[in-house]
Amino acid sequence: MRDPEVLVRFRPSGREAYVLPGVRLIEAAAEVDLIVLSPCGGEGTCGKCRVRVASGVTEPNPVERRWLSADELATGWRLACQTSVAGPMDVDIPAASRSGEHQILVRTESPTEPPADDPPVRTQPFEVAPPRRGDDAPDSLRLERTLNQEPLEMDLPLLRELTDRLQSMAYRGTAVLAGHRLLDLEPDDAATDALAVALDIGTTTLVGELLYQRTGESLAIEARLNPQTRFGDDVLSRILYARQNDDGLEQLQQAVVEAVNEMIATLCRKADVSQRHVYNVTLAGNTTMQQLLCGVDVRPLGQLPFTPASARAMNCRAVELGLDVHPRAIAYVMPVIGGFVGGDTVAGLLATGLADADGPAMLVDIGTNGEIVLQANGRLWAASTAAGPAFEGARISCGMRGCDGAIEKVVVADGRLHIGVIGNAAPAGVCGSGLIDAAAELLRHGILSPQGQLLAADQTPVDTPPDLVRRLQFDPQGKPIFVLAEPSESAEGRAIALTQRDFRELQLAAGAMRAGAILLLRRAGLRSDQLGEVLIAGGFGNFIRRSNAERIGLLPQRLEHHRIRYVGNASLAGARRGALSQQARQAAEQLARRTEHVDLSTDPDFQEAFADAMIFP
Ligand code: FES
Repeated sequence: MRDPEVLVRFRPSGREAYVLPGVRLIEAAAEVDLIVLSPCGGEGTCGKCRVRVASGVTEPNPVERRWLSADELATGWRLACQTSVAGPMDVDIPAASRSGEHQILVRTESPTEPPADDPPVRTQPFEVAPPRRGDDAPDSLRLERTLNQEPLEMDLPLLRELTDRLQSMAYRGTAVLAGHRLLDLEPDDAATDALAVALDIGTTTLVGELLYQRTGESLAIEARLNPQTRFGDDVLSRILYARQNDDGLEQLQQAVVEAVNEMIATLCRKADVSQRHVYNVTLAGNTTMQQLLCGVDVRPLGQLPFTPASARAMNCRAVELGLDVHPRAIAYVMPVIGGFVGGDTVAGLLATGLADADGPAMLVDIGTNGEIVLQANGRLWAASTAAGPAFEGARISCGMRGCDGAIEKVVVADGRLHIGVIGNAAPAGVCGSGLIDAAAELLRHGILSPQGQLLAADQTPVDTPPDLVRRLQFDPQGKPIFVLAEPSESAEGRAIALTQRDFRELQLAAGAMRAGAILLLRRAGLRSDQLGEVLIAGGFGNFIRRSNAERIGLLPQRLEHHRIRYVGNASLAGARRGALSQQARQAAEQLARRTEHVDLSTDPDFQEAFADAMIFP
């Protein structure tokens, strides 16, 4: 006999899931497409998946007792990864625990691409002579001659239809070709040109753009959260998931492929075109994301020496990836530089032209991971650091991603602290840019020491504004905190405060980025003030304020502000180039091969540089 399923009602969305008793709340929510934040991948080590069980609450387990106060437990707060469904439940998922309305950077520096004269997929009108006595050349050969494509290759299913198709088209139409391969025949009056989709497959977010293959015109753009976040927020937790579960790789691949298919469907709906006309899909992501999307084993990326399966670009059929486009559409996945410097960085290099910059220049991509590429005297060095968790809100006590309810701006003006909240909502937590702002302001006012120590109210400089002094309080364990929003001002009725540990996490993240930059500069024998330009890319990079990023030491020091330039979503911009030009694809391959991968974890100077960079400048 089957166990009866029970109803779990989620609020405020009103979605209802019927699940078997024993299913964890985080899984029940995922069944109805509600993604609860789970930076630790449901291991119970981050405390970020807080939900309030309004009815049907069960006894908390020891992990929940560790993360939640007695008051919170008494009022139904639980961790969605720890609480299992025992009977019907009503569950509130607060904004701070939802992954839904993420602020996603879709903008690229150059919104349109000039048409390339060597597109990977091209259309060619044709008119071929019907077969007749005296010319018994096969249909494919007559077409080959007409198209001037020798030898013309085609799949068996297309060959099977060729004679009928030519006949029904009265021997004229438009051929769609990828190199010498015939992908399909379109009628002469085909209203739609061949389409291409460029995709940025980020650890946290997915962004797709629909393009006319021939003109490069952008038809629509679409973004959403990477549903793999339910398996963990960073690449390592997803690799771990793939390692620990027999069908983990399959689940991870399926999740992202489904999301990409939904995006493609939405893009085509927005542009009022048919998915069947998408002949080319070009993808850029970090090494792990690319391998997961392709269903390639990621386990070696989780252990020394972090070896990718392939460094070269991958060319295959879109259908082999499970993509819902033309059945013979081609797919291109960017080449990678190393285990943690992937196709998104190559795409960024392609889009920004860093390799051809006049003087020394640096590309800094601050996403869930941080990647840095330095160009000097024609040489390229690239490194990656685990910068992202703090900037994405993970490992920060009140941290959340940049979505509605996140404090994203902190300013001290006229002696008072002002906060900016995304969506103009009541604050529910703080995201990366808010954290950087807060740290920079506290450093300026001498409340946070260069060593990262948060002072107590009675230790502050005499001229500290009273509004800042009153925000220096103690948590129930007697540890100093800085309150950004009082319980009465916040969405969940609890104070939003930064702890000493939060500032340590920020020091670690910013220090890792800066140490990486310093070591690359050292390889090139350069000082930071010799950099002609620093390009900031990535979802998070565009929301940070230059002076504050510099104040906390996230960016190289002694740089004039005009040398720092935000370049938007460079990964998407590079994928777009790759979608439109063969030459761009060749350039991507060359860039990937000539970039020297610097493994910071084995660099003997890294620990010292990191320790130095941990001190706020
Ligand atoms: Fe639940 Fe991390 S504690 S996901």
